[in-house]
Amino acid sequence: MNKAVRKAVIAGNWKMNKTPAETTEIINAMKPLVKDADCSVVLCVPYVDIHAALTAAEGSNIEIGAENCHWEKSGAYTGEISADMLTAMGVKYVITGHSERRQYFGETDITVNKRTLAAVNAGLTAIVCVGETLEQREQGITGELVAMQTKIALGGISKEQLNKIIIAYEPVWAIGTGKTATADQAEEVCAVIRETIAKVYDNEAAEALTIQYGGSMNAANADELVSKVNVDGGLIGGASLKAEDFSIIVKAASK
Ligand code: PGA
Repeated sequence: MNKAVRKAVIAGNWKMNKTPAETTEIINAMKPLVKDADCSVVLCVPYVDIHAALTAAEGSNIEIGAENCHWEKSGAYTGEISADMLTAMGVKYVITGHSERRQYFGETDITVNKRTLAAVNAGLTAIVCVGETLEQREQGITGELVAMQTKIALGGISKEQLNKIIIAYEPVWAIGTGKTATADQAEEVCAVIRETIAKVYDNEAAEALTIQYGGSMNAANADELVSKVNVDGGLIGGASLKAEDFSIIVKAASK
């Protein structure tokens, strides 16, 4: 495996946090701290903050993403936002299948697939989240489960379209809990995801795919996690709300 062929991506996931005014403030503080990054820097923010985020990030190396999108282009889907609407605003990335959406909003592998297809077809890069619960890890089914989630999420995505896909391995038990997977645990599952891509597509596709780790990644543990050969960056929740902490993670991934 040649990690050097892949560019690391550090993406923040702000979840349901921050107003537009606060968004401007954080991004203004972040810009000088991440300007020399040798990795992609992305902030996925609430829909209502997208305009402020795009404005604040203009001319910088920070790209803006959303946290979800609907699979239809338009129509009677009260409360939903389409991938085309995001593209029209200048958004470049969208998270699909985050475990909080699977857990609290009835997201299934099938709807994750539909959202991912819509995102890629609209020209967005989808950050597709997969990961096991603590019970599933204890049952010893992590590898099989994550391989299955990955396969279903990517149904209908061609090899050529994989350059618009990032997989984020996020063990549910590590999200927002302060409990991080060890670097070896992260590496093991990210390697399973890469093998799955090699089986479904081919080795070339697997080598090129960016696979992130997410789950309580922070300024103190990022270095070790991103040093692993199959971990190409991270999806960061809590620590992405603090300019200084986020910039330290960006620096770790730029080495
Ligand atoms: P966390 O969240 O870094 O706060 O654990 C990660 C995520 O949910 O993407």
